[in-house]
Amino acid sequence: MANPRRSFGNLNPSSPSVRIIDSFDQTHSPHQQHRADLISFFSKLGILLKKPLAFPILLFIFVILTWISLRFKQSSSHITVHTNTRQSYFTKDRDADANLVRFSTVKFPSKIFKDERGWIFNPLTIALEAGISGGAQSCVSSHLGEIRPGGVRGNHRHHTCNETFVFWGADTLFRLENQNAQGKGYSEIFIGADEVAVAASPVGTAHALINVDSSARRTFLFGCQDSVVNYSTPTTDFKTWDDI
Ligand SMILES: *[C@@H]1O[C@H](CO)[C@@H](O)[C@H](O)[C@H]1NC(C)=O
Ligand SMILES: *[C@@H]1O[C@H](CO)[C@@H](O)[C@H](O)[C@H]1NC(C)=O
Repeated sequence: MANPRRSFGNLNPSSPSVRIIDSFDQTHSPHQQHRADLISFFSKLGILLKKPLAFPILLFIFVILTWISLRFKQSSSHITVHTNTRQSYFTKDRDADANLVRFSTVKFPSKIFKDERGWIFNPLTIALEAGISGGAQSCVSSHLGEIRPGGVRGNHRHHTCNETFVFWGADTLFRLENQNAQGKGYSEIFIGADEVAVAASPVGTAHALINVDSSARRTFLFGCQDSVVNYSTPTTDFKTWDDI
């Protein structure tokens, strides 16, 4: 019986496929050589797949691909579950219940991140614009500092000043006394390391910041008070909460 490729070529000598095959007989350029190698690879593969050995090989490839896709699915669902658990654990309360507004430090452009240099804003103005009430109207006394992982700042109640906070840099919890919060008497908000938060604590309201970061990042904190707190006089209640 005649070679099917040859008879096909004889039947239609002007077809493009025949011309390509013809050109392989006198390969000149590296490009043509590459195509010839490719065709020969596929023809060898075709022969191989016709052999009885092909079935176990295909089965093996299929099993490997299934295993890879299952592994990928499992790891991505693990990440989703982890994130959801963390979020549902930390964000039961609404930002507004803790007098807080948050901004992304990675989304550009945004209200605080207007050009490539990074974010900057006036905390008192942005708090007013965001409808955060009860903070300082002017910075008579200010504080700048950090909280290392596991550290707590605040956990006290000032009776002589309103205070506005800005904090960022690590996974952090902000707790603000809130008599309307059922059961616990406070609202607690989780802020991620890629966010910056502005929060207000009105006079006579307890507040605390807790660095809960698991990647050893530091929380940076700026606090603005509308009067100078005299720590020699009993105008501040300390250790408001004993669980932190
Ligand atoms: C705190 O805010 C309240 C309400 O805006 C204001 O009446 C008060 O003067 C502010 N300052 C202090 C030190 O209480
Ligand atoms: C703080 O309070 C103490 C006790 O009342 C007083 O002696 C001191 O002068 C006050 N300090 C300031 C800076 O007002």
